[in-house]
Amino acid sequence: MAKSYRIGVISGDGTGPEVIREGRKVLIVAAQKYGFGIEWVDYDLGGERYKRTGEILPDGVLAELRKLDAIYLGAIGHPDVKPGILEKGLLLRLRFELDQYINLRPVKLYPNVDTPLKDKKPEDIDFVVVRENTEGLYAGAGGTLRKGTPHEVATQESINTRFGVERCLRYAFELTQKRNKRNKLTLCGKTNVLTFAFDLWERTFYEVSKEYPTIQTDYAHVDATTMWMVKNPEWFDVIVTDNLFGDIITDLGAMIQGGMGIAAGGNINPHGVSMFEPIGGSAPKYTGQNVINPLAAICAGGMLLEVIGEQEAGQAVEQAVVKLLTSGKMKSLAAGKMGLSTTEVGDLVASNIL
Ligand code: IPM
Ligand code: MN
Repeated sequence: MAKSYRIGVISGDGTGPEVIREGRKVLIVAAQKYGFGIEWVDYDLGGERYKRTGEILPDGVLAELRKLDAIYLGAIGHPDVKPGILEKGLLLRLRFELDQYINLRPVKLYPNVDTPLKDKKPEDIDFVVVRENTEGLYAGAGGTLRKGTPHEVATQESINTRFGVERCLRYAFELTQKRNKRNKLTLCGKTNVLTFAFDLWERTFYEVSKEYPTIQTDYAHVDATTMWMVKNPEWFDVIVTDNLFGDIITDLGAMIQGGMGIAAGGNINPHGVSMFEPIGGSAPKYTGQNVINPLAAICAGGMLLEVIGEQEAGQAVEQAVVKLLTSGKMKSLAAGKMGLSTTEVGDLVASNIL
């Protein structure tokens, strides 16, 4: 019997359901062509459920999610819900509880896509950011004293464990080797100021590097990294960094690869349940209009297939996206300016799967 995967779907808020609908359409075709099955399990989570019931991520639901092969996530964030509640209660909680310690974000300029970087071509913009996804400033350490008084104190500490740093670095070295492109791994940090946290990162980086003699190691401060990403993106192959720096530089990465319409990411637990998402957010103003670009969600679906072990099907999804982009049928990647509806983009990519 053909292999079948149980994939949890959290369509979520805003335009999440619209882009996930197209992603599913494409993944179903890929599954048929490459001979495996997908059983979709839908979860009603996000702003609407929270408003209706006050529930964000019930323990029973989390227990079910732990048993899946992967999770496909649309977007989290609702205009009527105070910022932070859903982000922390749902998205970050899932990353932490499922120990998705890698946030993998490819920054790749596809052919025929506009980049704001003058004179840069697809061969110049093709790198991957490995963002640590369970520690750092996101760990929630810190607190408030004398809140609301003129003497209020607020602390927010960056948590970096040898275990957490090392497993992230190892993943990055392995990925650089597997990619076999420029065989270069850049540690992005701030060793000149964050002399405790990035001392640990740096020492561990060079220790682990001894096991990978074919990988060239490189270091850049985070501020310089943003500069080089704009000026010389071709210098990068794989960048590894902590949670907050990774968050920041991957939004810059999304812009240089053509915008949020194409930027996909994976929250990966190499030994557990991983979760894939377009990194753009819920785009409330475009909700329900069938104008949002589903390519980021479709690319996230391609990453999902690769990580669960269907590499060929995953690559076929990426190639189908490239085929649409090179066909010239899409006028722009921006919502409302594509010259195609959300549904049409999904249909075209699905029909391009070889
Ligand atoms: C991202 C987002 C999240 C993050 C927010 C929504 C909590 O910006 O996935 O990059 O900061 O990680
Ligand atoms: Mn972000």
